[in-house]
Amino acid sequence: MAGGILVIGSLNCDYVATVPRMPAPGETITGDHLEIHPGGKGANQAVAAGRMADASVEVHMLGCVGRDAAGALLLDSVRRAGVETAGIRELDDAPTGSALIWVTDSGQNSIVVIPGANALLSPDDIRAQEALYWKTRVALLQLETPLDTVGAALELGRQRRLITILDPAPAQPLPYEILQHVDLLTPNETEAALLLRETPRALTIDDAYSMGQRLLDLGPRSVIVKLGAEGAVFLNRLQRFHEPGFAVRAVDTTAAGDTFNGALAAAIAEGMDIQPAVRFACAAAALSVTRRGAQPSVPSREDTDALLRANPAS
Ligand code: RIB
Repeated sequence: MAGGILVIGSLNCDYVATVPRMPAPGETITGDHLEIHPGGKGANQAVAAGRMADASVEVHMLGCVGRDAAGALLLDSVRRAGVETAGIRELDDAPTGSALIWVTDSGQNSIVVIPGANALLSPDDIRAQEALYWKTRVALLQLETPLDTVGAALELGRQRRLITILDPAPAQPLPYEILQHVDLLTPNETEAALLLRETPRALTIDDAYSMGQRLLDLGPRSVIVKLGAEGAVFLNRLQRFHEPGFAVRAVDTTAAGDTFNGALAAAIAEGMDIQPAVRFACAAAALSVTRRGAQPSVPSREDTDALLRANPAS
């Protein structure tokens, strides 16, 4: 049975400089060009869910922007992806969040976020929009809004028996009080390590299973460790599997994780089983790294289905 998706999170205006390499501390380098794109982990995930989900799934977003040009750009972008924006508050006393992004020729990125209005999304905003929870099957959150708001939103989601997904990005350790309300935790390699208070490193599939097992002990009911080009591993107390990645040429990895999460939420809301849902999310994320920018890189449902048809599951 299909149901709605509620994305709760950040909206940022991304200022993206393309550079030959990352500058060293104290160094000035010359970049190639500057682009301005709609971004923010919450908005990127809402756009991905909106582009991916079939017509039976409504996508709503809760968040805050400033009443400024960047806020208007963000609202327009999420609306054009079919996302309902009545839950996005426009603030007179704070600017829209922004992100300064460096992308190298090899597709690597570094990001500095200035939260702006995102820092003002409060637990009261969640309670004020509680009616949206009745339309929702999947609640999708990240960590670019205050942690007490994330906690309140997850707790309400669990009370309403929604499927709660938390993308623990940007990476940080999280308390049991938050993780106990998470059905599906979706860290990448770095986030998995920091949640476990370990030093980040590249993971083998076996490492990812072992870390996933230890992450389950922190409170979530299921874990997906995202492994970039190597796909993702899923595990809970009953089931575990690895879905391989798709071979593509990466030009910009910005928002690949966001695309994964939005596509995953769409697949789950449509009622897909978890293994095909993870495969669908891997395909969408693979397509996103072949394009520049955050929201401009999120593929369509048609392109994602075509990639899956061209690479049947083995
Ligand atoms: O995950 C990518 C996003 O991180 C960017 O769009 C940027 O806004 C930061 O939030």
